[in-house]
Amino acid sequence: MKALTEFKHIIEAHGYSRQSLAAVGAFTGVPIDRSRAAALTESPSPLNALVRMFFLRLPISEPLAAAAVAPFTLSELERHGLVREDEGGWVGGLAIIPFAGLLTLRDFEPHETGVPLRTDHVLGVGLATSILSTLTVRRRIARALDIGAGQGFQSMVAAGHAARVIGTDINPRAIQVAHLACELNGITNIEWREGSMLEPVSGEAPFDLIVSNPPFIISPPHDLSCLGGASEGDSLVESLLREAPSRLADGGFCTIVFNWHHTGGDDWRDRPRSWLARAGQDAWLIRLSSDSREDYARRWIHEAQLDAHGPAISIDDWMRYFDRLGVGRISMGAAVIRARRAPHARNWFRADELTIDRCDGEAGDQIARIFANQTAVVELPPDELAALSLRITPDHELRERRVQSPGEGWRTLDATLRQTRGFDFEVRIDTHAATLLGGLDGSRPAGEAVAACARDFGADPSHAVRQCPPFLSRMLGLGHLEIA
Ligand SMILES: C[S@@+](CC[C@H](N)C(=O)[O-])C[C@H]1O[C@@H](n2cnc3c(N)ncnc32)[C@H](O)[C@@H]1O
Repeated sequence: MKALTEFKHIIEAHGYSRQSLAAVGAFTGVPIDRSRAAALTESPSPLNALVRMFFLRLPISEPLAAAAVAPFTLSELERHGLVREDEGGWVGGLAIIPFAGLLTLRDFEPHETGVPLRTDHVLGVGLATSILSTLTVRRRIARALDIGAGQGFQSMVAAGHAARVIGTDINPRAIQVAHLACELNGITNIEWREGSMLEPVSGEAPFDLIVSNPPFIISPPHDLSCLGGASEGDSLVESLLREAPSRLADGGFCTIVFNWHHTGGDDWRDRPRSWLARAGQDAWLIRLSSDSREDYARRWIHEAQLDAHGPAISIDDWMRYFDRLGVGRISMGAAVIRARRAPHARNWFRADELTIDRCDGEAGDQIARIFANQTAVVELPPDELAALSLRITPDHELRERRVQSPGEGWRTLDATLRQTRGFDFEVRIDTHAATLLGGLDGSRPAGEAVAACARDFGADPSHAVRQCPPFLSRMLGLGHLEIA
């Protein structure tokens, strides 16, 4: 029997890719124009047949379908659930979506099938999927856990840097789909377990990494497991955030994306802080956006197609539910938690408002650096910061603003420093700070670099060294510097 991963090579060899799906209108953020996409894929070719079957879910005649998947046979693929015979020909049993170098699978959606969402619907990769992946610290590790694995994307990425991954989901169909996606991608180090939240790993050894994109939508009750609906408000997220970190090995990281509610008149940090600020762990709460309760409900009714195809929950139901829970606003974001259980450790909690649009590429290295830096800032007396060997990381750019002034030529007014990988954390700095940062190469204590810089500018070196801790602490906290 052929390994299913050969099928990946076959469709890729025919040109099935993100680009070929984009060519028919995918990934623009608006629903694709299905009649235009059908017209664009009309001429008979293996690629058009594959795009029609596995993306548009348009039936293909048996000879064309068979030619596109050869040397696999349609019945072989049917046994895996990848194709099925439908009125008018062969269609995909699942959509195949290339994403981040992997082939991901998902159920076709109501607008593609004309059938309402099944209670065991398996979602594809979405915005929360990519946010979680972006905010995951990736290091070579022994054991990773993905809670609510769904189509399996997070587990498959973790399998690239963890020796062993456990992916769990309450939905047995999700487990089947994720398993199939692994076979397709030739990934063999993931174990799939069915069950709720941490239940499938009770009694397991600790994990070096835990990731979760749980069903976080805060809505009146319904029975679609992919969208939550089984628990009150954000209580499922709360228990996950309270319990998951206790399953980390010391030094291990956990990233969870979630929504939480607040009244709107209170501080958005308060409720998650009460779940996250505890001994034995450092936690960084990142708020990425927030919505009024009306906008939130309308957006989800629309995005999850609950209006046309899901459980009939009206906006009024939603508002009555929010009234009962005292919900005024809903925030969307993530928590990154690191277990740090050394005796007498001064554990910290920090909250920031960031924008995902201002995050370029994977932020994992930046997050790990910020955790190390924040810990140094919290643990060390301020004057000892100058004793650390610090360096500016290579992923930076400095933009200077200069003006012409008579007799002086170009004079630098100010400069903007930003990180080019991860969140940009743009800061305005003056010429002295820019020169100092340029001289921080990790080869000597930061205080020596500060003193040298002061001398160059004709200032008092010991005064500069005394004054530098707040600046170093700020630059460390934003991850502009790292400890050599
Ligand atoms: C938003 S999807 C996330 C899928 C995937 N991890 C990703 O990042 O795209 C949430 C998943 O959580 C699963 N789920 C819902 N309730 C759960 C529970 N109580 N325990 C474990 N998984 C659950 C759903 O079946 C669904 O697959």
